[in-house]
Amino acid sequence: MTQGKFITLEGIDGAGKSTHLSWLDSFLQSMGRNVVVTHEPGGTLLGEKLRALVLDSSLAMHPETEALLMFAARREHLDKLILPALDRGDWVISDRFTDASFAYQGGGRGLSENKLDDLERWVQGTFQPDLTFYFDVTSELGRKRLNGRTGGIKSTDRFEKEKNEFFDRVRRAYLERAHKLPHRIQVIDSSQPLETVKLLLKNIVLSIC
Ligand code: TYD
Repeated sequence: MTQGKFITLEGIDGAGKSTHLSWLDSFLQSMGRNVVVTHEPGGTLLGEKLRALVLDSSLAMHPETEALLMFAARREHLDKLILPALDRGDWVISDRFTDASFAYQGGGRGLSENKLDDLERWVQGTFQPDLTFYFDVTSELGRKRLNGRTGGIKSTDRFEKEKNEFFDRVRRAYLERAHKLPHRIQVIDSSQPLETVKLLLKNIVLSIC
């Protein structure tokens, strides 16, 4: 049995993760891999309930509460889905993982990196994705794509309703983290044509197959 790998996709809202995720899923399946596709926050029964709470725009929430809920959902996700799938030899692709907490709760909400480091260590020990794609777009392009997707209808999600400055901070935090962890995080310029991005993804994924 070949060993499974854990790939995560990151980016600000509207960066194009979903499109690339389905392509990646099909590509890996065509290579004969068993693929499990999942997302955060969520991926388990309890995780989806936590997701509903943390995205509910009618709920005011302390930034630390937000971070704790993200990591609580992650604990379940690891225990019930990610680690068992990897143990079976499956490949797991997750739409977001811990880098999102550093970017959104750290960069966006201003939580200290030390606190997030502690939570990361507590919840996942030394476990890390084998590969992370960070799809980079400006907050303006992200917003434009998001509006295109929702047909301009105002979204009610707690994050999507944030201003461009919030996403500028999130983006900066993602880029800093990618700079710090270049062996794991691949920065992809997601303003490029889809076909160009696919080719990049293909070459990088083949290098870990
Ligand atoms: P996402 O599923 O990408 O949103 P959508 O389904 O609308 O594309 O992610 C939901 C939101 O959760 C997103 O705005 C980022 C946020 N988030 C955090 O703030 N911290 C985290 O640790 C994670 C995993 C997500």
